[in-house]
Amino acid sequence: MNVLILGSGGREHALAWKISQSKLLDKLFVAPGNAGTRLLARNVDIRVNDFAAIGNFCLENKIFMLVVGPEEPLVKGIKDYFSADRLLSGISVIGPDRVGALLEGSKAFAKQFMKKYGIPTARYLPVTKSTISEARGFLETLSPPYVLKADGLAAGKGVVILDDRDEAEKELKSMLDGKFGDASTKVVIEEFLSGIELSVFVMTDGKNYLLMPEAKDYKRIGENDTGPNTGGMGSVSPVAFAGKKFMNKVETSIIQPTIEGLQSENIDYRGFIFFGLINVNGNPFVIEYNARLGDPETEAIIPRIKNDLLEMLIAIEKQELKNHTIDIDPRAVASVMMVSGGYPGNYRTGLEISGLDKAAERRDAIIFHAGTKIKEGKVLTNGGRVLAVSALADTLEAALEQSYETAGLVSFDEMYYRRDLGRDLL
Ligand code: AMP
Ligand code: GLY
Repeated sequence: MNVLILGSGGREHALAWKISQSKLLDKLFVAPGNAGTRLLARNVDIRVNDFAAIGNFCLENKIFMLVVGPEEPLVKGIKDYFSADRLLSGISVIGPDRVGALLEGSKAFAKQFMKKYGIPTARYLPVTKSTISEARGFLETLSPPYVLKADGLAAGKGVVILDDRDEAEKELKSMLDGKFGDASTKVVIEEFLSGIELSVFVMTDGKNYLLMPEAKDYKRIGENDTGPNTGGMGSVSPVAFAGKKFMNKVETSIIQPTIEGLQSENIDYRGFIFFGLINVNGNPFVIEYNARLGDPETEAIIPRIKNDLLEMLIAIEKQELKNHTIDIDPRAVASVMMVSGGYPGNYRTGLEISGLDKAAERRDAIIFHAGTKIKEGKVLTNGGRVLAVSALADTLEAALEQSYETAGLVSFDEMYYRRDLGRDLL
């Protein structure tokens, strides 16, 4: 069968790497892809939000399954677009419809959902311009720092955390005045939770779910978690503090009520759910839901899944997950993200990457491309996050060592990566 993966990052390269190993696969396509996916699949020059072009391509190339990597097409309703079309409705789409994707696309929706189904999360108040007078009273009940979240998608920048009350009130006004465009016409004010974060993933067919490996994402640009937030500077899996007892709490107090809640709301959710969690004194709370896999977490969890992923995705679509189990490699993966100097601020692109051939000779690591492109036979940087170097080993320590050794073989101008990943877990 033919599969089309939507997206162009490290997550999509990792998905392509895994799906390309499936015995059920005929042809694999990635739109738009990058210089890495090109080695495993045919890259197709179509943007992820161009539903008409994606639909046409699927029909012309007899696509059996569309695997949606990033959130934007999901939140914009790519699943609904396919189901509403007579010819496209027979194609499997992995990812929720527009309403299911609201778990990620609207923080207010997600919070309301969690409240309704008793899922542990920070106390909150949704605010719009017409209800701003309630904000002061709610802020009174919180102690600093104050967490303000744009309701809608804001390219990962919509969360502002401030220590000062006056500043928080000022920021709230500016957000409601359109600081993040339409995404912040509604803002969620939240209680600050203090703890250590982790990312938990399930695949679900809407009725049943399978727990995938968990991961820890390193979000800050600087070592020892300093400096601005990024899309993620690397990840590791498993996460040492997510033991049996903790994960049992995650399943019973968070995952199961979420799946049951989706069913009660008649949301037909077939895809991945990413639970952004925080461990507060041994108890998990939801910081956010995402309607997709994480990036860079996917680069650390996919190499630990031993199943034929395409077979699992088909089971999701057919709602037959209950007949499957997930076979997880107990070994550890470390994935180091190599970024372009200046990221997450301004950075250059089009820089030539050298050493990829040498790195590819190493059998103990995999290079997933994040922001790369090919031009005149050369691999060039094409984004802030450039390459994710993943390695699997018996221990996290060994995985980190292999990953860093491989990263050391690659270079481009102003290349940067954090050298302290995983140290907090060793
Ligand atoms: P989000 O986009 O919701 O993942 O938020 C971005 C980051 O802000 C999270 O990864 C957390 O580090 C932080 N954050 C969000 N909400 C809270 C909260 N209620 N308490 C503490 N930190 C938070
Ligand atoms: N790694 C965080 C995300 O994918 O949103």
